[in-house]
Amino acid sequence: MDLLQKLLTGILMFVCLVGCRTISPGTVWTDDNGNVINAHGGGILFHDGEYYWFGEHKTEGPSGNLAQVGVHCYSSRNLTDWQDRGIVLPVAPEGSGSPIEKGCIIERPKVIFNEKYGHFVMWFHLEPKGRGYSGALSGVAVADSVTGPYRFVEAVRPDKGYWPVNVQECHYGPDRTDGMAFDGGSLPAHPDSLNILGRDFSSGQMARDMTLFVDDDGTAWHIYSSEENSTLHISELSDDYLSHTGRYVRLFPGRFMEAPAMFKRDGKYYLMMSGCTGWAPNAARSAVAESILGPWQELGNPCVGADSNTTFRSQSTYILKLPGKDRYVYMGDRWNPENPVDGRYIWLPVEFEDGVFRIRWQDRWRL
Ligand code: GAL
Repeated sequence: MDLLQKLLTGILMFVCLVGCRTISPGTVWTDDNGNVINAHGGGILFHDGEYYWFGEHKTEGPSGNLAQVGVHCYSSRNLTDWQDRGIVLPVAPEGSGSPIEKGCIIERPKVIFNEKYGHFVMWFHLEPKGRGYSGALSGVAVADSVTGPYRFVEAVRPDKGYWPVNVQECHYGPDRTDGMAFDGGSLPAHPDSLNILGRDFSSGQMARDMTLFVDDDGTAWHIYSSEENSTLHISELSDDYLSHTGRYVRLFPGRFMEAPAMFKRDGKYYLMMSGCTGWAPNAARSAVAESILGPWQELGNPCVGADSNTTFRSQSTYILKLPGKDRYVYMGDRWNPENPVDGRYIWLPVEFEDGVFRIRWQDRWRL
């Protein structure tokens, strides 16, 4: 290439990157007011031609991972220019005794639209104030308009009094945890030999990191880390999406998976998850199934290249299918526990190769 050609190519690339809608993972992203976008552990709902991004509003300093403000929403027509739609689920005032009182933990909020009832339903991982992560509850809120305000309905442990579709003989036996304390990242023995499922049968199953998925027939599913984080559960939601039906499946017992994200392509269901290492990133996992209730087959780490063993220093939160297109976007969080408000967003294209999906790092990419 002579100098002139190189120059022209350079100018063309520059014009395209500046003028086209590009995504630069890990850089500071701002909204229409020039403020830094504050929607961590989020998910996206596409509704009436617009994308709505819901996420945790973090604050500065070590207490910034506690819910001091609530769930933040932004909207966009192109996934790159975001308008601030404000706090759509505010925390309740301090001292109110509400389960969503200021200082509680609200994580990974996801919103879905219920066609039948015409309402918007938000589920999130909820930990009551001052109890660390021991609550392992799911919160649910509802609104008539996509940007809220969302009305808090209740906090639950799912599937109280129901056995999963793949219950085993051992689960009907006694609780063998014997008052043990768990750290959320490992167990002294397999969850089935401890019978954590059976222990929680009558009080409801633990539910921490979570996502939601609406299938083509309108059935909605709540996917969450359960049984001291050792096992993933996929639970069916009721037709108004406000409760669980009691139909659920246990996946990957003892594999300690969290940060689940689900999507469907060509009739197959895919899951992406992380391991359980708190705010520190780890290698992602993936899985595929012909039916949402399984059997599920693990596929390994979908990330490829440098930093793939830490999911490019991020943790999955959502995989967005672009409406009407065979295109999917990985959404992850690069957490910053010292200053949570400065956590960054890692969005990357999802590619497909021989029945598996792959994610590669890109400094800048176009939608
Ligand atoms: C992560 C989880 C986050 C948050 C964090 C707390 O593993 O994905 O949502 O719960 O642990 O340490």
